[in-house]
Amino acid sequence: MNAFEYRDGELCCEDVHVADIAHRFGTPVWIYSKAKLLDALNSVRTAFAELDPVICYSVKANSNLSLLKILNEAGSSFDVVSGGELYRVKRAGADTKRVVFAGVGKTDAEIRQALEDDILMFNVESEGELDAISAVAKSLGRVAPVAMRLNPDIDGKTHAKTTTGVKGNKFGMDIERHNELAAKVLADPHLELRGIHMHIGSPIMTTDPYLQAARKAVAVVRDLRERGHKTNWINLGGGFGLSYRGDEAPPASEYAKVIVPLIKEVGCRLALEPGRSIVGNSCVLISQVIYTKREGGKLFVIQDAAMNDLVRPAMYDSFHRIWPVASKVAAPTDYEAEAIPGCETTDIVGPICESSDYLAQKRAFPPVNRGDLLCTFSAGAYGMAMSSNYNSRPKAAEVLVDGATVSLIRERETYEDLVRHELIG
Ligand code: LLP
Repeated sequence: MNAFEYRDGELCCEDVHVADIAHRFGTPVWIYSKAKLLDALNSVRTAFAELDPVICYSVKANSNLSLLKILNEAGSSFDVVSGGELYRVKRAGADTKRVVFAGVGKTDAEIRQALEDDILMFNVESEGELDAISAVAKSLGRVAPVAMRLNPDIDGKTHAKTTTGVKGNKFGMDIERHNELAAKVLADPHLELRGIHMHIGSPIMTTDPYLQAARKAVAVVRDLRERGHKTNWINLGGGFGLSYRGDEAPPASEYAKVIVPLIKEVGCRLALEPGRSIVGNSCVLISQVIYTKREGGKLFVIQDAAMNDLVRPAMYDSFHRIWPVASKVAAPTDYEAEAIPGCETTDIVGPICESSDYLAQKRAFPPVNRGDLLCTFSAGAYGMAMSSNYNSRPKAAEVLVDGATVSLIRERETYEDLVRHELIG
């Protein structure tokens, strides 16, 4: 399903003209489609239906309370990586019994809170963390449910900054350490080994790394059971691909095809932690052209969304489709744009004082003028969630569209918000 479509030369989100939202709430503005968000969740749910999986939406991808509430009401569970994210899912009304807690640096205070909230399990990243969880559980007179995060040494072929499943990065543990710690859990009355956890990277655009990961997980579960554990959960993390250009990402059903048969072999419950694939294509970032400028043989479109709003192009060389909101030609993929008559090679940049402040470089782009609205597509995942106030730029507003209904789900920050927590000493 595509919630963002050109109708009569104007981009619409569901039944609303995107330009109307921009005029009402200003720019830059993030616009979400509720239908697309739910559609993405349902695609994962349907693909894995045979296993009735626990789909723990990865809150780090986008933690807006309204989106969490929608996902919660649609039956999603949650993957959190901080006390702050745990707080958010509770504020959104989630049942914490369906929450998994990941991350390499959980503090005692975070562990205590999660135990008091009776979460589904901790994804444990190190021996130090396992000891800390045990000590906090003991002090509360509880048994902590854990799954050790195995580093399976599988190359998910992602950007160097988002690969997690190969030897030598900070995540997880190798199989020898995993087995040592599993023995430790068995001897500890305050720990219970519920399962095994892996996350191999983000985004992973082929299914083969999941096939390899699921094979490893199944072998580890068999081994653990032989050693006397009642291990019954396999959590394969997140990382499903997103189509940023056209339809290059495999659908959830393709991932399911390789994962489901293996999990069935050992009769485990399956947990997944998708973030990007749920929220990524449910949102666009709308900006307005401030100036155009020709300099040094290049054409620059300077518009009002910047790296403080969407840092992904600067940080990971990420590709996002960008196109005018008013256009007779629907937004093409990057390849097609080359062929559209009238397009010129353009850098689309923001107002921030850094050369890395761009949304796109060397992009075939049609002529635009001061005041024109631009749309950056596939902006829902790691967009607003990674935004900052760099250059003292207030964070943009977020707006949700449901059919013809438009709701503001985060107010645009003000200058007063920028200094709210500062004290003049
Ligand atoms: N589970 C764990 C343990 C993770 O580390 C992550 C993402 C996920 C689940 C969710 O992965 P997803 O389904 O969203 O791919 N900021 C980067 C992505 C960083 C991903 C970090 N971990 C970006 O903008 O591409």
